[in-house]
Amino acid sequence: MQVILRQLGDCNIRRAGPSDLISVMEINLKTLPEHYSDYFYESLLAELPEAFIVAEIGGKHVGYIMCKTEFGFSNFKKLGFVKKGHVVSIAVVEEHRRKGIGNALVEESVNGIKLRKCDEFYLEVRCSNTDAVRLYEKMGFVIRQQLNAYYRDGEDAYLMAIELVQTNK
Ligand code: ACO
Ligand code: ZN
Repeated sequence: MQVILRQLGDCNIRRAGPSDLISVMEINLKTLPEHYSDYFYESLLAELPEAFIVAEIGGKHVGYIMCKTEFGFSNFKKLGFVKKGHVVSIAVVEEHRRKGIGNALVEESVNGIKLRKCDEFYLEVRCSNTDAVRLYEKMGFVIRQQLNAYYRDGEDAYLMAIELVQTNK
């Protein structure tokens, strides 16, 4: 049985399972220029199911977020080596945007990332993607770097990150 993490009106937010991956790939193809192999989706789900979340309305998938964890240099502490959560991809289908679904997906992935005792959470986003940048800023992410020609088409990315405070250490 799928455990619902939260409900936003008629939208259920829950962890993904293997049977959700096709729909997640379809949303990704429709909404973003960065695509991945089937194996990559499967491996993210296997490695970090706590932060692979889907949004569903009436049995139809309308959004997803998928993440991974890494060890690396801190985006905040000078010379610090930390465990980081990394948002690989998030999207909500166009007809259901601006209803708080993106916000809920990020919040639930933060909860999942905290379960894995990450110190920080970060992502890259196109500098021109003001909707997404605003969403992340609203959630407390801050721009830490601009990555030159990060995308295949030459566009720069902002690296945005947030420090996580563990509530149940
Ligand atoms: N204009 C202005 N602000 C916006 C907009 C917009 N069109 N969309 C979101 N925001 C900001 C607002 O502050 C908003 O809060 P408010 O509605 O209370 O003002 C806040 O973000 C949260 O909005 P949500 O409704 O929770 O976000 P939504 O469900 O619309 O999803 C998302 C946002 C995921 C960025 C969506 O626009 C999308 O799927 N875009 C296409 C795919 C994409 O760009 N994904 C991010 C790529 S980067 C990465 O994956 C790491
Ligand atoms: Zn990334």
